[in-house]
Formats: sequence, C-alpha cells, structure tokens
Amino acid sequence: MRLVISKIGFGFILSCLLAYSAYAQTNSTQFEFADVATSAEHIAIFVGKDGELSKAVTNINAKTKGRLETALKDAEFEGKFGKKLHLYGLAPFKSIIVVGTGEDELSVRQLRDLGGYVAQANSNHHSISVVGDGLNTAVEQSAAQLAFGYALGSYSFDKYKTKTDDDDKNQTRTISFHTEGFEAAKDLFENDLRHLATGVNFARDMGTEPGKSIYPENYAQGVRKLFKGIDNVKVEIMGVAQMKRKNMGALLGVGQGSIHDPRLVIVTYMSGASDEAPIALVGKGITFDTGGISLKPNSGQWQMKSDLSGAAAVAGTLYAVAKRGDKVNLVGVMAMAENMPSGDAIRPGDVLKTMSGKTIEVISTDAEGRLVLSDAVTYAQEEYDPRLLIDIATLTGSAARAMGEDYAVVITRDWDLAVDMMRIGKAAGEDVWPLPLNKNHYKAIKSDIADIKGSGGNPGASIGAAVIGTFIDEDRKWVHLDIAGVDWLKKARPTTPKGHAGWGVRFLDAVVRENQQAE
Ligand code: BES
Ligand code: ZN
Ligand code: MG
Repeated sequence: MRLVISKIGFGFILSCLLAYSAYAQTNSTQFEFADVATSAEHIAIFVGKDGELSKAVTNINAKTKGRLETALKDAEFEGKFGKKLHLYGLAPFKSIIVVGTGEDELSVRQLRDLGGYVAQANSNHHSISVVGDGLNTAVEQSAAQLAFGYALGSYSFDKYKTKTDDDDKNQTRTISFHTEGFEAAKDLFENDLRHLATGVNFARDMGTEPGKSIYPENYAQGVRKLFKGIDNVKVEIMGVAQMKRKNMGALLGVGQGSIHDPRLVIVTYMSGASDEAPIALVGKGITFDTGGISLKPNSGQWQMKSDLSGAAAVAGTLYAVAKRGDKVNLVGVMAMAENMPSGDAIRPGDVLKTMSGKTIEVISTDAEGRLVLSDAVTYAQEEYDPRLLIDIATLTGSAARAMGEDYAVVITRDWDLAVDMMRIGKAAGEDVWPLPLNKNHYKAIKSDIADIKGSGGNPGASIGAAVIGTFIDEDRKWVHLDIAGVDWLKKARPTTPKGHAGWGVRFLDAVVRENQQAE
C-alpha cells in the first residue's frame, strides 16, 4: 500500500514568481510513503555503527542473496554517522546507497541530515526507495524527517543551465520512504514539513537569482503570488508615495540611487486570537548591494545578489506557518531596495530623517541594511505592537568573520532570550551564537551633526545592532540576527547544498512554533 503525497516540485514557486521568464519547471520530485519496499531498482538503506542490520535491511539483504552483507564487510563499512557507500550490481537492485547512522540515538536534526545525505548520494537523480525502518531513534514519524532532509538536500538551481533532452534531471522522480506507520509520517510531511521545505527552497531561489532579475518591485509581486489563496494572509506593498507619507527617509534614501524604486512589503497572517499581539519578523531585502557611493571592491561583489536573504527568510517562514495553519498572529515586514551608486544616490555624510523622527548621518553608504531596517522596525512597532520582534539581515562582514558558516550572530538585550535562541537553533538545525550589545556600542554611533551615525568602527556586528536598537522600543522583546556569514555556503552540508542556504526559515519557523499561546 502506498500514498503519493506530493507532486509539487520546488521550482514551482519560482516559475510562478518569474512568470515572464522562459523558465519551465523540469526537475520535479514527488515524495511518497509506503509500508513495504516495492520492487525499486535503486534503494537507500541505513546501517548503524555496529554493522548490525535492521529487520528491514535484513530483508533487503535476503533479496540480494546475502551479497549486500558481504559487500558491506568487504568495503569495511563501519556505519559512522554520515558515511556514504554506493553499491552497484547487487541484483535485483541496480544500486544501493548505504548511509551510516552511528551509534547514538538519532535526533530530529540527525534524521534530517540522513535524508540529506541520501539526496546528495543520489546524484544521478534516480527514483529511489528509502528503507526508513529500524532506525535507532525515539523521534516519531522519523520517515517524515528523512523526507524533509531529502527535500532540502536535493535542492538545485538549474534554470540558467541549458537542458538536454536526455538530462536525467528533467524527469520527474519519485522518492519513496518505507516505514511502518507510514500514514502518520505522510501526514506530518504533507501538512507541515513539505511547506517548510518549500519555504526554505523559496528563500534559496530568491538568494540565488541574479540581481538583474530580482528587484524590489518584482520581489513584491512574487511575494503576492506566493501567498495567493492562502487563508488569513494579506499582502500589502508600499511604494514610494506611501513611504514619503510615512517619512521613511532611510529606506527611501537607500533606494534613491537605483532605477528600481524601493518597496516595503508587509505580509500578515492573522490566525490567532484577535486580542493576541503578533510576532513580527523584519527582514533586510537589498536586492543587490554594490555599496553605493562607498562602492564595494570587485572581489566577491557578485554574491551581494543575496543581500535580500533576511527578507527571503521572512517570506519563507510566513509561507510555512500559514500553509501549516498555525493558530498564531504573525507579521512579516520586508524592506526592499537596491543599493546602487549614481548621480541620484545618497552620499557619505548625508543625513537621513527616519520614520521615527530620529536622524542618521550616513558615514558609509555601504552600511545600508541598518538604514532600511530602521524604518522597517519602526513601522512594525507602530503598526502592530508585536509581543516579539525579530529582525534578520545580512548586516555585517564582521558577523561573518566572527562566526564563519557555523553560527548566525544573535544579539538581544536579554540573556535568557539569547539562551532560548541558541537552544531553538540547535534543535532546528540552524545554530546561533550571541555577541554583546552594551552602552559602548551606542556611544560609538554618536554623531556630531545628527542624532546618530550609521556606523562607527569595531566591533562591527554589535555596532550595527546598536543602530537598529536605537529604533526598538526599550521594553520590546527583541532579537537581532546577523546572518552575513551563514546565508551562503562555500561547502555543502547534508541538508544545505553549496550556495544560498535559505538560512533562517527553519530557525524562525521553530521560534514561531514555540511561541504560540495555548488554545
Ligand atoms: N551586505 C553587507 C554585509 C555582508 C558582507 C553580507 C559580507 C554578506 C557578506 C552590508 O551591507 C555591508 O556592506 N556592511 C558593511 C558595514 C560597514 C560599512 C560598517 C561591512 O560589514 O563591511
Ligand atoms: Zn548589505
Ligand atoms: Mg552594504
């Protein structure tokens, strides 16, 4: 017995988004869950550290007339966690992917990683059957976690590669997960994790798409399309005239050097009690960061196409939460602008007046993220009075230097909140680590001619946070995430291929899950 549960490929959303482009979705993956293994040609199995075969794998071994066990022994496969082995010619199977699970009881995060390892090992993009029974774990519906890991680990961005007719990737492939109690796993995947994977992969699409193709206006339209038809969601797009009325001089200032006008994109998902204050997620959405007049050096500048990672994570999270149908009030505010040098651009030394009324002296036009966020967080607070405000931004090279690709920087005014964030991130598979914010960082942004200045030396990540903090109400529960180091990976991880990570969707989703009031 089996149930086909998903036919939506992850290219689907982007193809809707960029409907005018010649993009056609080709590499679609469908997931299914079933109880017993079918007569699949390609399978994946898991083997623990002691090399002992689970009941399900023992059955597979019997089908190969014991040659699987011999092959594992001959390969001296020790079953270390994440170790992969690809076996061919063990009839009746064409290929068997073997992934080690180690000796410890498997966590949710590790199960997801195992699914990702299978995806990466299946580099020929075959339809495969994954034998998910008999894993050493207390996690319920573990097969759904494997499938989620697979959905993340198999992501690729192929739309600009010329396709050949016989390209394997063009075929629809089916990944089946075999496990007892598969209906519950199907349920969890279908109603929850599938949407989360789509949210993550949407963010990856946005961060990978070149700056030529994504700018504030069409990002906003894409978000509108993404949320079309989802219950309890409203999308509002603020243009220049409305921003002027709200005196958003910082967001307008950053956007004024580009031929593409800035936008403030607001997504509300109101499904909680009507008297419940929402959680607000505020994202930096610079569709390309040249640095402006304070031009960035040539080297690595191309990667600044992903300077909208914060906004993309906000959209991806709202998508996951809204599709899941959580009973929560959640608001996303995305500050979209392109930071370009031109005759119209703001200059170093210019003073911008923000929506809050406070003025900022621009020291470097390359410190643009904090400028757009100053107006966005003010808007979020004035309009929604959130019970928790999280801003997320590729804000500083300083954060990237401090943490590398392992941890996003988290800055709060409340140590307990920082500890909560570390715990949530660890479980969700996206780690955060704190840096300080104290009065010295606020002192460093004192300006001679304005209320504050936009930047002021080291430590850059804390000083960037101080600029944003200047606009956050003192008693507001506030979390600042600087994701400059983690949004783009030079080296693949099990559930994150090299390139844009879609960082933050899993993290923010986990924060929202944990911060829901009991019904
Ligand atoms: N978008 C950059 C930060 C960044 C750097 C993101 C590397 C990803 C990788 C941001 O707008 C920026 O340019 N920050 C400056 C601030 C400085 C001028 C105070 C920086 O970190 O150098
Ligand atoms: Zn930037
Ligand atoms: Mg910059």
